[in-house]
Amino acid sequence: MDYLKIQGVDSLHGNIQISGAKNASLPLIAMAILANNEVKINNLPDVADIKTLLKLLSKMGSSCHFDTQETIINTTTMDKTKATYDIVKTMRASILVLGPILARFGHCEVSLPGGCAIGQRPIDLHLKALEQMGAKIDIKAGYIEATTPNGLVGCEIIFDKITVTGTANIVMAAALAKGQTTIINAAREPEVVQLCEVLSKSGVTIEGIGTAVLKIQGTDGELLNIEEFSIIPDRIEAGTYLCAGAITNSEITLTKVEPNHLGAVIAKLEEMGNSFSITEESITIHPTSQLKPVKIITQEYPAFPTDMQAQFMALATQADGVSIIEERLFENRFMHVSELQRMGADISLNGHTATVHGKTPLSGTDVMATDLRASSALVLAALIAKGETNIHRIYHLDRGYDNLEKKLEGVGAKVARLQE
Ligand code: EPZ
Repeated sequence: MDYLKIQGVDSLHGNIQISGAKNASLPLIAMAILANNEVKINNLPDVADIKTLLKLLSKMGSSCHFDTQETIINTTTMDKTKATYDIVKTMRASILVLGPILARFGHCEVSLPGGCAIGQRPIDLHLKALEQMGAKIDIKAGYIEATTPNGLVGCEIIFDKITVTGTANIVMAAALAKGQTTIINAAREPEVVQLCEVLSKSGVTIEGIGTAVLKIQGTDGELLNIEEFSIIPDRIEAGTYLCAGAITNSEITLTKVEPNHLGAVIAKLEEMGNSFSITEESITIHPTSQLKPVKIITQEYPAFPTDMQAQFMALATQADGVSIIEERLFENRFMHVSELQRMGADISLNGHTATVHGKTPLSGTDVMATDLRASSALVLAALIAKGETNIHRIYHLDRGYDNLEKKLEGVGAKVARLQE
């Protein structure tokens, strides 16, 4: 198993190119199930989760050729509709194939994804919405068995909670359904927006893109001719590297980034004393040598993203004063706290709220990654810790960060990937 050895540095300098967004790529790959043509996707990130979903589509009879420049997916040969446990257990976002397969084939078996480190991660809202559209759903031996005796029929769906992949699943199911589907309380994340934009360019009429109310006019079973498209930049990868600049007091420039997707993150970094030069496709952070403490509440887009919570926890250990971080989306997304404490961080937890006392010097040691974003928080802490840090179980990191160590080495970090 790989681990990362990171030597604390004084500062970093240079440019980092941002890759395509993992969380935009996953629904857009699942969307290929709705196509009657070969789907070409540019700028997919080279991360494990993308490979896992492409493997799932291949296991169901599609042909997938991965290349970060241009990936080609042909689902016209798809002849299986079962997403098996062996793959789904490694990536819960496999649930994104449920809506498209059901819409296209009328039957589907998807292994229940099970929980994950950060929480139970239910999918009740996905299933309830599909049932409202006419699906018959049973849970048998750990599998979701879904059929649509009379096809999916558009209707009004009100999500009790805002769900990103739930919205994506239903948008894709609605694309092939009969009639109009209205989704109320839809997710507005940029990743959902891109899915809607690609579908609307492929002949699906969608009103309200980017808002909490989506109206989707289904094609009544007619497959889509999906035009070539390029994945939007990864706003969470970008936010993580901005935190790397802030925590090491380094001026770094991100390229191929979409600044408009990072409003809440940049605002919080400015509150902490950093400033920025921003162009259409780049962000340069001008760091402060004295970080101010911050109060963070994670909420749905466009508010502060939960996927940046762990990274800001690491950063807050270097701020002068007391920071408060409240996690409102997931019940167990503080797994990085105990590892940061082992490095010397002064953090106390009370339910969903963490109180971080800074500025505390951190020391390198052996730490363990527990989930994707917790891993990136440990990388940030290691960059400024005294001495060497070994981060174990970095398969978590590899799920969502494209060539992280090469990108950090490129700006002067001392990072090596070694074998246990
Ligand atoms: C997506 O997960 C992202 N993953 C997550 O990113 C991200 O943290 C999350 O959205 C929130 O922004 C992908 O896009 C692949 P949700 P998702 O459904 O869709 C509850 C990362 O680090 N809920 O928006 O699974 C749920 O428990 C990952 O890249 C239900 O109760 O999240 C949570 O409390 C981690 N029932 C809240 O809603 C449901 O049926 C938001 O979950 C669905 C969700």
